Amino acid sequence: MEHSSTSQPFDPKSSPQKSNVRSSIRPALNKSKIDDVRVTWPRTGLGPPILFTNIDIRRMLHLANAGPRDIFYDLGCGWAQNLIIAATEFNVKKCVGIERDKRRYHKAVQRVKRRNLSSRVRIIRGNFEDMVDGALRDENINEATMVFYGLSTSADFLERLSDKMRKRACLLYYYNTLFPEIKADSMDYPFYLSKHPFSKPTSEQDWLASIVRKEKSSFNSDRGPSAGELWDELTHDYDYWGLRSEVGRYKARLRRILRGET
Ligand SMILES: C[S@@+](CC[C@H](N)C(=O)[O-])C[C@H]1O[C@@H](n2cnc3c(N)ncnc32)[C@H](O)[C@@H]1O
Repeated sequence: MEHSSTSQPFDPKSSPQKSNVRSSIRPALNKSKIDDVRVTWPRTGLGPPILFTNIDIRRMLHLANAGPRDIFYDLGCGWAQNLIIAATEFNVKKCVGIERDKRRYHKAVQRVKRRNLSSRVRIIRGNFEDMVDGALRDENINEATMVFYGLSTSADFLERLSDKMRKRACLLYYYNTLFPEIKADSMDYPFYLSKHPFSKPTSEQDWLASIVRKEKSSFNSDRGPSAGELWDELTHDYDYWGLRSEVGRYKARLRRILRGET
């Protein structure tokens, strides 16, 4: 699974809405600064330009305890909604979004300007892989205290990201884009937070417990669930999103880690 914009797991609302090719191209801003866009996207395979409701975004930022001392990076920022909420409601000191798609980049810049946030919210046009690999000069992900990543994951990408992140910074991600290589330190569904330096799982059960958070077995409520039961839970819930096959990939990656192969 590639961590590119064409892969699926980041996209719970997988079918692009009809008739809206133009609405994501044209500015078409309404008068309202809150309800300023129609969240629609053409059949580009990029996924939604705004992934979460504002209620969800606040939940994520509360999970990270976001505040005025934070620097927040969104890797693949779409229309910058996460950054806008972080800056306007959580008073986050500096927000940086990187977006590869030209139209989305321009829309994000326009939305930030319209809210007079340009001094605190910076949108960069580019590939976040280059940023993670230190190939972009202007911003350094090492300054981030919080990083949101909501695309397909891989062990290689995590390692490169981890090398660049500073100690005690939070990696925020969500249920559809898990990292079997590390444990989640906290969660508020659908969001997870892993604090740098990341904790590696010691067993399948150890990782699954940090993700699924099921406390009692369905078969014996005096016991916690077995690893098999937790895999089944994860598969069931991924099936809900139409992403069942991802679980097999997570399992293979986790087993590789536990065998010390990566
Ligand atoms: C599903 S959207 C999420 C937008 C935003 N992070 C949010 O939560 O609302 C993911 C965005 O990442 C962008 N993207 C995908 N791969 C990228 C890459 N390698 N570099 C920069 N942006 C990328 C896509 O164009 C898309 O707009």
